[in-house]
Amino acid sequence: MRYIGNKTKLLPFIAGALDRLDLPQPTRALDAFAGTAAVGTFLKSRGATVVGCDLMTFSYVFQRAYVVAETYPQFTALRDDAGLHAARVRPDFAALVDRRAAERSDAARAAAAGARPLDELLVYLDHYLDPLTAFISHHFAMPHAPGTPVPSRPASVITALHARRVRSTAASTTLAPNAAEPAPRMYFTLDAARRIDAIRVQLHEWRATAAISDDEFYIVLAALLEAADSVANTAGIYAAYIKSWQSNALRELRLRPPSIAARPGTNNGRHARCEAHQGDVSALAPTLGHFDLLYLDPPYNTRQYSAYYHIPELIARGWFGEPPVLRGKTGLLPGAQKSQWSTRAGCGAALDQLLADTDADHVVMSYNSEGIIPEAEITRIFRAHGRRGSYRRITRTYQRYRSDRPSATRRYTSDSVREHLYCVRLKGND
Ligand SMILES: C[S@@+](CC[C@H](N)C(=O)[O-])C[C@H]1O[C@@H](n2cnc3c(N)ncnc32)[C@H](O)[C@@H]1O
Repeated sequence: MRYIGNKTKLLPFIAGALDRLDLPQPTRALDAFAGTAAVGTFLKSRGATVVGCDLMTFSYVFQRAYVVAETYPQFTALRDDAGLHAARVRPDFAALVDRRAAERSDAARAAAAGARPLDELLVYLDHYLDPLTAFISHHFAMPHAPGTPVPSRPASVITALHARRVRSTAASTTLAPNAAEPAPRMYFTLDAARRIDAIRVQLHEWRATAAISDDEFYIVLAALLEAADSVANTAGIYAAYIKSWQSNALRELRLRPPSIAARPGTNNGRHARCEAHQGDVSALAPTLGHFDLLYLDPPYNTRQYSAYYHIPELIARGWFGEPPVLRGKTGLLPGAQKSQWSTRAGCGAALDQLLADTDADHVVMSYNSEGIIPEAEITRIFRAHGRRGSYRRITRTYQRYRSDRPSATRRYTSDSVREHLYCVRLKGND
């Protein structure tokens, strides 16, 4: 998923810093601001037992799918699902599944033993499940073909199970524009939104009837989050949609299977499973035990992630039970999680407290040169909690991630940013 602060491109830089530390193997690591789980996934690939934590529900989904899950799910309890069964006997089904498997690179194919049930399920959801008009279509979609009616937003929005009965015809028959409503939000084409709705509702039904396991649920939901983000009509964040259709938004929504890997070095023997957590790191970290490595990647600025990624958050949470009452032009969720790490007044104190409260040997923190905690304050905090002589700062320059275009309110002073890794060995276990 496109994500502010995603560290995928910086993994070699982080690896270089980790290689200089005297870390035990296997390393028990806390990925404290997990986001897309890119760092947790990487640490797992190096054999670490990774514990992840983030405020956001979608991050929990990614952690579960990419870090906690260790084998391709077999979807055993879905064998008798009527829809899947009907699709399997269709003449083109096997060819579509074969084609999907063939699209993997050689390396991915070798690692994907046992992936056929997942491939089959994703082919079913992509090609055979009927689109559905539900919450995402009502609140975050516009038709891209001229003349197609816009879905109205009923006061009591269609909820989970009976929403399935609103079949493909609903979009063009019952949905008259309502003048009292705010303008339709142009985040997804109606076609894409109706597929997102159908898949999310189907996942909810399967989970509610115990037809899929937790691992299975999170793996498919992660694939849906990635697929939805890739067709979202945004510049990468959901604080605004673009007022004309971008080419990515007109592509077909397609679920891609995540690669799932066991932790290396753990085949013959019992090992601790990786873990995922959702919540405030300040409250959680002290309860999670001892870590050889505490990796920190806090927000750099005052923008709250909950306001920038509210649509992935909604897809991750679902809207079942009590559908949320959305706010404003972009449809924000009520009661969004606010982080003190995104406030100038709170971020320095939060860092200080976290280093005091977490039982860890080594700390590595990613932070860039434009972050809201001044460099001098970070250095002071790290030195205060660290063993004498163990503090180090490593710096690299990289291309800026532009989430929005330069404008009157957003001026970029430079095309590049300096990314720092602050490293220290904590005093606690002297
Ligand atoms: C810079 S991003 C992390 C990016 C991540 N390393 C990646 O590669 O995708 C910061 C993350 O911190 C999370 N966050 C902010 N405040 C938090 C808090 N108090 N506790 C836990 N996570 C928090 C945000 O939701 C966001 O995902």
